[in-house]
Amino acid sequence: MCGIVGYVGPQACADILVDGLRRLEYRGYDSAGLAVFDGKRTGVVRAVGKLQNLVNALKEKPLPGSLGIGHTRWATHGRPTEVNAHPHCSGEIALVHNGIIENHIELKRHLAEEGVKFSSDTDTEIVAHLIHREAKTGDDLLGAVRRALGHVHGAYAVAVMDARQPDRIVVAKNASPLVIGFGEGEMFCASDIPAILPYTKRMLPLEEGEIGVLTENGLELYTLDGKRVDRQPKTITWSASQAEKGGFKHFMLKEINEQPRAIEDTIRGRVDLAAGDVIESELGIDAETAKSLKRVYFIACGTSHHATLYGRFLMEHIAKVPSQTELASEFIGRDPVVGEGDLVVAVSQSGETLDTLAALKVAKEKGARILAVANVIDSAIPRAAHGAFYTHAGPEIGVASTKCFTTQLAAMVLLAVFLGRRRGTLEKERAQEILQNFVEIPNQMRTVLALDDIIRDLARPLAQAKSALFLGRGVSYPIAVEGALKLKEISYIHAEGYAAGEMKHGPIALIDADMPVIAVMPDDKAYEKIASNVQEAKAREGHVLAVATRHNADIGGIAHNAIYVPKVDPVLSPFVTALPLQLLSYFVADFKGTDVDQPRNLAKTVTVE
Ligand code: BG6
Repeated sequence: MCGIVGYVGPQACADILVDGLRRLEYRGYDSAGLAVFDGKRTGVVRAVGKLQNLVNALKEKPLPGSLGIGHTRWATHGRPTEVNAHPHCSGEIALVHNGIIENHIELKRHLAEEGVKFSSDTDTEIVAHLIHREAKTGDDLLGAVRRALGHVHGAYAVAVMDARQPDRIVVAKNASPLVIGFGEGEMFCASDIPAILPYTKRMLPLEEGEIGVLTENGLELYTLDGKRVDRQPKTITWSASQAEKGGFKHFMLKEINEQPRAIEDTIRGRVDLAAGDVIESELGIDAETAKSLKRVYFIACGTSHHATLYGRFLMEHIAKVPSQTELASEFIGRDPVVGEGDLVVAVSQSGETLDTLAALKVAKEKGARILAVANVIDSAIPRAAHGAFYTHAGPEIGVASTKCFTTQLAAMVLLAVFLGRRRGTLEKERAQEILQNFVEIPNQMRTVLALDDIIRDLARPLAQAKSALFLGRGVSYPIAVEGALKLKEISYIHAEGYAAGEMKHGPIALIDADMPVIAVMPDDKAYEKIASNVQEAKAREGHVLAVATRHNADIGGIAHNAIYVPKVDPVLSPFVTALPLQLLSYFVADFKGTDVDQPRNLAKTVTVE
């Protein structure tokens, strides 16, 4: 999730572009860059790290001119370095891109065979070379971009300049967001409204498969197959801070609603439905290693730890490899029996949590193979590991993790299928079934997100509670403990997530009419058992709210209230049962007026032991 911005008009545009990037920095801050045409040639300045580094570099090398594009990067392919920073150029072509090119390896091979030399490790540079190859005549940038994108599979929002046609920017969109801003005698484009809202309120978001030409006179819009599109801009009424949250009240609510897209981006280019397999080249695990694995050992903290509880379930259920999960801080303190033949999976959205890094080092010293699952490219934990799996949630601003949690769940599914196929414990047909059901999950998540009004009403009484008990069983146990953590983190209500079968051995003592009991009970093989556990709680006056599968008729007899989620493959139910608990906690905190995005006493990344 990067941020791109563009300008064509009469004004010197470098400052406008930098200002736009500043408002997009929540989308990524690994590097930034500008390309501006000064009347003779296109000047490019790029810098690693925060936007301020680019501002300093521009002081050294100012970019005059009134046609330009800019980019702030969230690295997905290629480390956060200057050569991997955007804009990427090929001859007179300069390009900025947000998204993931799925077939970049294949395209790179073809271009290399034609003698093209590459200066970066990015998937984006390939598109610049493709466009340059198509733009030989230098007079039809629109045609060149359209033909080049005809070879590209994946998600992209691009803005492209050609020094030979310095009156225009060509933009195109597929899956990644891009909005056009209509000014008086000037035009803007950006990944998100906040970037250009100070300059115009007249906006037009591009739709899937559209390509357009921006000149100072306006926008010519087409479909990628050449049909002219006629659509008018709308006027935006948001304030700047509202805009940064995409119109949502808090970053957390915005990130909860970004989850379907985050899962789509994390799955993109990694699922081969025909082969019933997962394509992943950076794990550093070949078939031999997968077959000879003795055990999978997860280490993590906080919400990431809860994702590994799901990972353990899947490793045993799908990959049939003995598996355990450990709190990193506890792992460090013990003399863990781990070593040769063990795969230790260190899970951390930030990739910087010191407890997890320290635990990783203990396991590595003992000879274990280390796989990192992280959301921040090239962060400390992936750098210290033998292999890395990157989730593509984009930057997560809210301290309480939501979209990074569900993308970690996605990583667990992909890893389990990857190992199951190579260990021969997962048949091709079942793998195809799981993966087919998996690629449909983002839309089922959208269905759950549409229940927000119902969930808000159910949250109101919960805001009065002093404590709450969350119950889950089997694949839903991780979701119960994560649900409890979310409520604790942002509403400051004491909450406990418990294995439903364990309730009768202790916490049932807590239950009375003032104790809300939230039960995660989708239709799966644990359903009968958790239904009787919930009956036990109800028999002690506990007020039961169930997260259940739609059309489960007898829930009404078990629970006082229910949130019904779509029926999905039982091993994938956490993707639809986690969201209602995130929303429930969000609305409770919002009713209580706590600082949802920056709750007291918490930090997004803890780099102390
Ligand atoms: C805490 C965060 O500091 O660290 C949690 O507040 C997070 O949201 C935990 O789950 C672990 O962080 P990470 O980056 O290692 O997943």
